[in-house]
Amino acid sequence: MKKPRVFSGVQPTGNLHLGNYLGAIVRFVDLQKDHECIYCVVDMHAITVWQDPKELLRSTREVTAAFLAAGIDAKEHIVFNQSQVSQHAELAWVLNCVARIGWLNRMTQFKEKAGKNRENASVGLYDYPVLMAADILAYHAEKVPVGEDQKQHLELTRDIAQKFNNDYAERIAELGLAGEEKGGFFPLPEPLIQGPATRVMSLRDGTKKMSKSDPSDYSRINLSDDPDTIAKKIRKAKTDPEPLPETVEGLEGRPEAANLVGIYAALAGVSHEDVLRQFGGKGFAEFKPALAELVVEKLSPVNAEMKRILADPGYIDEVLRDGAERARAIAAPIFEDVKRIVGFLM
Ligand code: AMP
Ligand code: TRP
Repeated sequence: MKKPRVFSGVQPTGNLHLGNYLGAIVRFVDLQKDHECIYCVVDMHAITVWQDPKELLRSTREVTAAFLAAGIDAKEHIVFNQSQVSQHAELAWVLNCVARIGWLNRMTQFKEKAGKNRENASVGLYDYPVLMAADILAYHAEKVPVGEDQKQHLELTRDIAQKFNNDYAERIAELGLAGEEKGGFFPLPEPLIQGPATRVMSLRDGTKKMSKSDPSDYSRINLSDDPDTIAKKIRKAKTDPEPLPETVEGLEGRPEAANLVGIYAALAGVSHEDVLRQFGGKGFAEFKPALAELVVEKLSPVNAEMKRILADPGYIDEVLRDGAERARAIAAPIFEDVKRIVGFLM
């Protein structure tokens, strides 16, 4: 039987952190067993906010190295960078003409990223979710593993797919291009927002998500941090003065404590209850060193493997080129069908 197809993307913008790792990359690795996976370094999304060109190149290789170091098999599955497969941009244009301005106006990530000076945001930043829909739909992907922050973008992707299917229903049927199960051309992709930690929070403020763009490096643990830096960041992480509670309910209203317990649980592969059974009643002076040790233990091998891979950029570039070729082989015929459906002369 054909394995379900998975697609996901990570932006090559600065430092990969523990949130990316637990919220996305660890899931990507797990899904390989029983899915056909396509993992994309989304450089076209990255430039929706200014990127220094040399830094973008470096970061594209770094994200690729992180994928490989974490255990993604680029031979069995597909790893590539978005800009090498032109169908993403081409399909995005068609979908731009399907998506409605009113839908995009509701996107909270645009509001957050554009900030107060919305007039000065790039048009690309506004259109970001449509390109994301194109990424997914270009492969007829069925499942999309992401962190919690991408939920709204996936709902929009489904709305766009649905509207395309409806608007062109007659033509799709005429050409015999309706998928068997759902009666549409584009399958509606299902978000996979699960896994050990779908929302890792900032170490400085338990109500804000850990993010590449936080000005304070102490807010996040980067995949490239050395053991001393990791230990220092955890030591300095914001907490409250109470000892850890005995039960999960006791974490309510204590976002920083809940976050650290969540990180511990995710890395150790145990439940929050298990962590509290071990550390309930103990103070952070005891918990933090144990957490630091665990983070170092889990991240060091990934970190070392990333460094090894990054030492050979030629190899990384070859992985991406080969992946792009195989990605194109899937996306090209789907986009040809889109052109037929829309009525473009070929
Ligand atoms: P980005 O760095 O924005 O390209 O995000 C790459 C992936 O990491 C996406 O699936 C995000 O949802 C996920 N992600 C980013 N930040 C976090 C976080 N703090 N906690 C969990 N997942 C995250
Ligand atoms: N927007 C996603 C993020 O910031 C990255 C992304 C781009 C993506 N295209 C995608 C994720 C397609 C899943 C599927 O995290």
